[in-house]
Order: sequence, then C-alpha cells, then structure tokens
Amino acid sequence: MRSDWLLPICNGGERLKNEDGKKAHPTQKPEALLHRVVLASTMVGDVILDPFFGSGTTGAVAKQLGRDFIGIERDPDYLALAEKRIANTRRISETDLLETPSKREQPRIPFGWLVERGLLRPGEKLYGPKRRHAAKVRADGTIVTSENRGSIHKMGAEVQGAPACNGWTFWHVDVEGTLVPIDVLRQKLRAELN
Ligand SMILES: C[S@@+](CC[C@H](N)C(=O)[O-])C[C@H]1O[C@@H](n2cnc3c(N)ncnc32)[C@H](O)[C@@H]1O
Repeated sequence: MRSDWLLPICNGGERLKNEDGKKAHPTQKPEALLHRVVLASTMVGDVILDPFFGSGTTGAVAKQLGRDFIGIERDPDYLALAEKRIANTRRISETDLLETPSKREQPRIPFGWLVERGLLRPGEKLYGPKRRHAAKVRADGTIVTSENRGSIHKMGAEVQGAPACNGWTFWHVDVEGTLVPIDVLRQKLRAELN
C-alpha cells in the first residue's frame, strides 16, 4: 500500500443527510478511508477508540469488519446520528474471514482466482473509491475500463494517472449499495483455502 492515499471526500449515497436534505455532519469521513485503517491496524474482535466520533464512521466500519468500538462525541445530535447509522449497519462478512495476518503468512492469491472461484463474475463491475472510475471483470482475470485492459494494479494506476496502484484496495464491488474493497474477497478466498 502506498504511504500517500488519494480518497474522494464523502459524498453521494454514503453522505448522511438530515430531514432538510442538508449534510447531517460537516466532516463525515469516507468509509473507504476507515476500511483501510481498520484492516491495516486491527484484528477481528479488537476494540477501536474514536474520541471524536462525529457521525460514527469509525463505528460503522468497525462493525462491518467485526471489530468492537468505543465512540466519544460531545454533540448529542451527532451522537444520535451515529447510533442510528450503526444500528442500520451490518457486518459484511463472517468475522473470522476478515482476519489480516502478516503478509509473510498469506498465500499469494492471483486476482483471476476470485473469478475462477465464483467470488466475482465475468462482466461484474468494479468501482474506484466513490465510483469515480469503473471497470468490468473479464473471465481471464484481467479487467477492462472504457480505455484499456490489464491487471487490477495496472488499470488502477492508469485511470488515476498514477505511477503505481494497489488494485486490491483501489477497486471495490457494490454489495447492496455499499462499496467493499476486493481485498475483502481476497481475504475470504484465503480463508477458504486454509
Ligand atoms: C472531525 S469530526 C469527526 C468526524 C467523524 N470522523 C465522521 O466521520 O463523522 C470531530 C468530532 O469531534 C467532536 N468533538 C470535538 N471535541 C470534542 C470533545 N472534546 N469531546 C468529544 N467530542 C468532541 C465534534 O463534535 C465532531 O463531531
């Protein structure tokens, strides 16, 4: 993973709105950001403390990924917002499939295996964070954008105009309206192969 992260601000369907259609919290963070942080720094069952909880993004992602959390927020309206949000958040996978052991322990999983094993279907759409970029999965384990075809890493770099890209964390699948990094599918497959 690169040490500089380019993530779009939180917008679209993920952005919480109040009854007037206005932003419910002024600085709601994108879940994709917390996804990376939580996966990179915690294990399933760990407790995450966020002393500036706001709209509860940390808690929502912690719950999705099978972590516990403690949130501290001084504004009662934001607290209520976070509680409602988290009550409506589901775990996205079985918690034991989301363990993140050290790289040395992890068998290499080529992207094509996700297709071979049916975790992704040929023709299925992948999205960059906030859906700014899209690509389709091909049966041969490459992906195709409107411009070109290649590996998840090559195409991730190409659409961003970046020198390199970790396609596992850049590309996402849409799970009932929520973008989930394909890295989660890779971990699921790893768990199945163990
Ligand atoms: C930058 S926002 C956090 C946004 C959050 N990460 C999210 O995604 O919604 C900081 C939050 O900390 C809260 N806050 C600031 N000072 C605080 C304090 N001393 N104790 C508790 N909460 C505090 C603010 O009310 C605000 O909601």
